[in-house]
Amino acid sequence: MTTAHDQMPSSNAVPPGALLWGAATSAYQIEGAAHVGGRGASIWDAFAHQPGAVERGEHGDVACDHYRLWEADLALMSQLGLRAYRFSVAWPRIHPNGRGSINTTGLDFYDRLVDGLMARGITPCATLYHWDLPLALQEHGGWLWRDTARYFADYAHSVTQRLGDRVKFWMTLNEPSAHTELGYVMGVHAPGLRRGEHYFAAMHHQLLAHGLALEPLRANVRDAQVGIAYNLAQIEPATDRSEDQEAAIRADVFAHGAYLEATLRGHYPADVAVVMPADIVEPGDLDIISRPVDVIGVNYYLRLLARAAPLREIFGYTTELVKTRRPTAMGWEEYPAGLAYWLNRLQSEYPDQTIVVTENGIGLPDRLGPAGVIADTRRIDYLREHIGVTLAALRAGVKIGGYFVWSLLDNFEWQCGYRPRFGLVGVDHHTQQRTIKASGYWYAQLIASGNLE
Ligand code: FCB
Repeated sequence: MTTAHDQMPSSNAVPPGALLWGAATSAYQIEGAAHVGGRGASIWDAFAHQPGAVERGEHGDVACDHYRLWEADLALMSQLGLRAYRFSVAWPRIHPNGRGSINTTGLDFYDRLVDGLMARGITPCATLYHWDLPLALQEHGGWLWRDTARYFADYAHSVTQRLGDRVKFWMTLNEPSAHTELGYVMGVHAPGLRRGEHYFAAMHHQLLAHGLALEPLRANVRDAQVGIAYNLAQIEPATDRSEDQEAAIRADVFAHGAYLEATLRGHYPADVAVVMPADIVEPGDLDIISRPVDVIGVNYYLRLLARAAPLREIFGYTTELVKTRRPTAMGWEEYPAGLAYWLNRLQSEYPDQTIVVTENGIGLPDRLGPAGVIADTRRIDYLREHIGVTLAALRAGVKIGGYFVWSLLDNFEWQCGYRPRFGLVGVDHHTQQRTIKASGYWYAQLIASGNLE
């Protein structure tokens, strides 16, 4: 019996319609209009304005001004020929206090955006939470507070009730592991907390929020395709010493396994469960957390090296970036083999799920050239390699539904501010001038012609 996979050509030609080709953004990173349209404050508003928190004191108050320029941005998406667009909804635009009254002006904004996407034949893919928690909930501890999960489900209801007739593809959470690690353990992201012990509550309550949100989401969205966008790095031992090899396994369990296993199999791995404070997981929680999903979102960027660190409480390991002669603007290594590793691992561990590459991209110091051109050839090479790996996995039988470039626009890259540029479209953050980069034209031709050359 032949399957769709058997019929796929083995050359670099992309079978038309094989993957949903898209680009991704998130609300705080592009919208701006921080005090417009009834939006409440988020933890990122507060954090970014703390001295020293973000490079050069930058913040997302204006960002790409997408809240005002959304129609121009839709036109750019059409020019690129995108088949799908992944955006996030800002919780504080919908419930300015995190709970209670709904700000319909906020819902109206996303309603118009979704209509605009549909009118252009672009599939809307919404993320409910991309790190911009309403500040009012942080006053109670944010994700350290169990009730935040319940308020997230209420928020999910408000959004899906309004958009669920048109938006079928939903990510509940973006990178809960990165949010926990960077925001609650290392303190380099909002809310800027720094304690190893926070790992457990911040993780568990986000995952509980995901599970609780599935109920209103399924009720409001017929034929929903739902999942989480996990951040998945390839973790390898820093040396061949046995303690570093064990550290790599442990780092993988804490950063990935705990999140994947809890949501997809309903348990925490033993290494995590054994150090988890007894009062965090209540009876029934893991049944809620592991309610069925349809999609595994893969945000893939890099490889990390793990080293044993016996003195580091709870974890017992540290991770570090791989030193490379050609670091990107983030200091990250380019490592396409890690994407292949994850696509194959997920397929073998969770064969029922469809995998979508919900983010993949490269931060570079792009500059507008004299002829008004942004010649980001390095990004083209990066995308060609990573998309090549994705298509090879697809041909080998991995169930992959889509691929999204991070990002549509140069945007606010968290603690690095506007320095690293990830966009297919360049943005001058003083004038808001948009310029499609060479990589944008390249991606457009890939989508249109199916030619990966
Ligand atoms: C991911 C985030 C995204 C962006 C990229 C570069 O971890 O989800 O918002 O910052 O990294």
